[in-house]
Amino acid sequence: MKDDLKNVLFSEDEIKQRVGQLGARITHDYAGASPLLLGVLKGSFIFLADLARTIELNCEIRFIAVSSYGLASFTSGRVEFDSNLDFEIARRHVILIEDILDSGETLTALRSFISGYCPASLKICSMLDKPARRKVPISADYLGFECPDEFIVGYGLDYAERYRNLPYIASLKPEIYT
Ligand code: PRP
Repeated sequence: MKDDLKNVLFSEDEIKQRVGQLGARITHDYAGASPLLLGVLKGSFIFLADLARTIELNCEIRFIAVSSYGLASFTSGRVEFDSNLDFEIARRHVILIEDILDSGETLTALRSFISGYCPASLKICSMLDKPARRKVPISADYLGFECPDEFIVGYGLDYAERYRNLPYIASLKPEIYT
């Protein structure tokens, strides 16, 4: 697996330190509240697991499945997700948790969808941002790192459903995906 990588962009230690900072900020900003951490599947699962353990609040944790094809009944552009929520959003402080902001289409669609349920507040927390790829204007309220316009894997991010389990974030050699 390591032979397929070009560069390590963010090491395990760097990630741990940054995630701890984000968790401390969220703990401070939501003091006295019980935010709903809403993880966007599948890429966010490792980030959310680590981040949640650094937030010293009585959080609720939920997930929403997003796909670029075929899942469900709410569609915006290429983004589709399961719109049958089995939990309450109204009057909740919701934080969308993502692994990466790329074109911005996923979070734009999701933010619009969740807003329709009248949350008390709605923020975005993303581990990575790839601004060079943005198609729609959106930014994270809580951001781990900006990353270059390369094929990135690890810490939840995949290529063909592999490399998600790398404990660091790396770029993939072009010959692997071309
Ligand atoms: C990735 C990532 C984000 C989305 C970001 O998901 O996890 O959800 O793309 O891209 P965007 O800003 O261009 O919309 P992907 O569709 O690869 O699914 P996955 O999370 O299951 O890997």
